[in-house]
Amino acid sequence: MNTQRPHSDKPIALITGVTGQDGSYLTELLLSKGYEVHGVVRRSSNLTRSRIDRLRADTSLYGKSFFLHYCNLLDITTLRRICRKANPTEMYHLAGQSHVGLSFEIPESTCEEVAMSTLRLLEICRDEPPGLRIYHASTSEIFGRVDKSPQDEETPFRPTSPYGCAKAFATQIAQAYREAHGMFVCNGILYNHESPRRGENFVTRKITRRVAEIKLGFAKELALGNVRAHRDWGYAPDYVEAMWRMLQAEQAGDYVVATGVAHTVLDFVQAAFAVVGLPWDRYLVTNQSFIRAAEPRCLVGDASKIKRELGWHPTKSFSQIVREMVEADMEALAKEKSRKPE
Ligand code: GDD
Repeated sequence: MNTQRPHSDKPIALITGVTGQDGSYLTELLLSKGYEVHGVVRRSSNLTRSRIDRLRADTSLYGKSFFLHYCNLLDITTLRRICRKANPTEMYHLAGQSHVGLSFEIPESTCEEVAMSTLRLLEICRDEPPGLRIYHASTSEIFGRVDKSPQDEETPFRPTSPYGCAKAFATQIAQAYREAHGMFVCNGILYNHESPRRGENFVTRKITRRVAEIKLGFAKELALGNVRAHRDWGYAPDYVEAMWRMLQAEQAGDYVVATGVAHTVLDFVQAAFAVVGLPWDRYLVTNQSFIRAAEPRCLVGDASKIKRELGWHPTKSFSQIVREMVEADMEALAKEKSRKPE
């Protein structure tokens, strides 16, 4: 069946990975723009105290313009059923194992979730009525062993991790479906993007959380792996705005989303300790177990295309992001501790 999409007065979005940092910000953005939003949630996702708790508890939204559906990405029949039921005009595919270091430990399931699930989702979308717009969450990790900086949409893919390889496949299969089947599919090649909602196993949040713990007397050191690694760190709410802009464009395409400024992990550590007025060199230690089997070279993006074509711009500087994250962790930790009985 491939009939014309029925006219709806509201745009409808289906988001995989709705409970993540990006999924939660994207949901808020789309709801504020008048969308009906359907989120796909893994049964194992910890939904209590999750990033979308506030939206679920809001009776003016939940069950009215915001809906959640349980489904594992490997359960393709259920995914197809959810898609039929929600009848989305826009699909944002954000789900999948996203920790680069962990992908060296669990390469098969990472590739299954990241690469094959994207292909399966594209197959579902191929059978949907025409007009569906699809966003695929690609990443700077596809560039890996780069020989030029900054990277742009023309930079060759040379991934260095199982995660990067899986994302390279997913990005290319999305391009192939766009060309072969005329589908509206965009790859957002996003560089690292952070916020107080970042998971605690990513380096920025690990740092800000631990700095807050040290400042408040609950920890004594910060143990990291390679602090010489460079990354281009942006602000997550800006990056979900970029996703949305891609799906409003006249034509589907691929876009690098980045700030164009590289910092080392050590820069981040120094900036975070500076926010609380402590000397970083007294607390930072190296733990070999956090050093990865392979690392990309200096990842820094050239976002000229999305700036020029879609009018997107980053709104926060590196130091503003670090400060916001440290302050949020200080506040959250102080609250948590004051709730605990002595
Ligand atoms: N996680 C972590 N933990 N990273 C550490 C640590 C540590 O203790 N010590 C040093 N690092 C270094 C890593 O080796 C890497 O070079 C850098 O910090 C950033 O690591 P992450 O924060 O884990 O992010 P990532 O760059 O590997 O991947 C993130 O960004 C990609 C690009 O947007 C993830 O969000 C990916 O899913 C995303 O595709």
